[in-house]
Amino acid sequence: MAVKRIGILTSGGDCAGLNAVIRGVYAHAKGHFGWDVVGIHNGTAGLLARPVEATELDDRVLGSDMLRQGGTILGTTNKGDPFDFPMDDGRRIDRSAEVIDGYRDLKLDALIGIGGDGSMAILRRLAQQGGINLVTVPKTIDNDLGATEVSIGFETAVQTATEALDHLQPTAASHSRVMVLEVMGRDAGHIALSAGIAGGADIILIPEIPYRFAAIEQKLAALRKRGRNFALIIVAEAVRTEDGQSITAVHSGGGKGVKTYGGIGHYIGEEIAQRSGAETRVTVLGHVQRGGTPEPKDRLLGSAFGVHAVDLIAAGKFDRMVAWREREVVDVPIESAIEGYQAVDPKGTLVKTARGVGISFGD
Ligand code: F6P
Repeated sequence: MAVKRIGILTSGGDCAGLNAVIRGVYAHAKGHFGWDVVGIHNGTAGLLARPVEATELDDRVLGSDMLRQGGTILGTTNKGDPFDFPMDDGRRIDRSAEVIDGYRDLKLDALIGIGGDGSMAILRRLAQQGGINLVTVPKTIDNDLGATEVSIGFETAVQTATEALDHLQPTAASHSRVMVLEVMGRDAGHIALSAGIAGGADIILIPEIPYRFAAIEQKLAALRKRGRNFALIIVAEAVRTEDGQSITAVHSGGGKGVKTYGGIGHYIGEEIAQRSGAETRVTVLGHVQRGGTPEPKDRLLGSAFGVHAVDLIAAGKFDRMVAWREREVVDVPIESAIEGYQAVDPKGTLVKTARGVGISFGD
């Protein structure tokens, strides 16, 4: 198949480094192979719209400002699964055929989809149904895809969470307080674990390691005994209450709408204050972790992934996800990537490292 024109879309929650992928794809596809590159707007929502929402990319995306720019110039969506699409009247219907028609309208030879496991699963189903030549690029600040050592967005999120601990430490020490920082990560504790070690947390709470308040109190007492007047606690959003309840927040639709994790930091802070009498303050870092200037690693990874995704199309290798392993960019079947969910390994190097430097997991 002679490729002339490819499409690219970003899907799922945005993160830092997406624009580096778009730039890498365009630079290599246009510069090396002479293909046209069409940027599809707002993920599959752009393919559902009529007329289809897409623009042919031009040399403006080659600028180095693209590397520095957070978010995605294409826009994205993390709702509206076309196979189970929520209609205004409350019905849920299959609109996958419309998405595929939209894709065909653009007369594309292949599609690069940048997304997390959920988006990749949807794109793969669409590709199978519509005969789309698909290559995917992994992005998620949660870093929970096992097939790649790191996904786009994770490094910047860790950097932001680490900086937050750097900022909290002096104010904690000035006021003799216990500071609780709640970070994202969906069901995994990777951000909390990495930032907790790098930012000098005293206690890291992650969903993979159950905690007890008695152990947290013990750690705080031990710190006080050593003359420490403050403590830093980092907690992953999916951590549950001590009796196993997960804490979520509703964001739209009068109680029927989108729910995400959110609020465990306040629970932990209040319980500690009540149980130990310590003065606590809680910071919920939220979407600050997703926006902002991409860290160098996300720019590098984005560029490498973008170039490799184009090379896969040139080689006629489809249904593959690009990945980072042992200092190299490689590619794996999308199916195995989606199946390979990776939580924090409670016996892994980073947990051992944290314990080794005296960090408690409250267990
Ligand atoms: O999956 C990425 C992520 O940022 C999670 O860490 C978080 O739970 C969720 O998305 C937030 O989603 P939304 O953008 O819908 O608030």
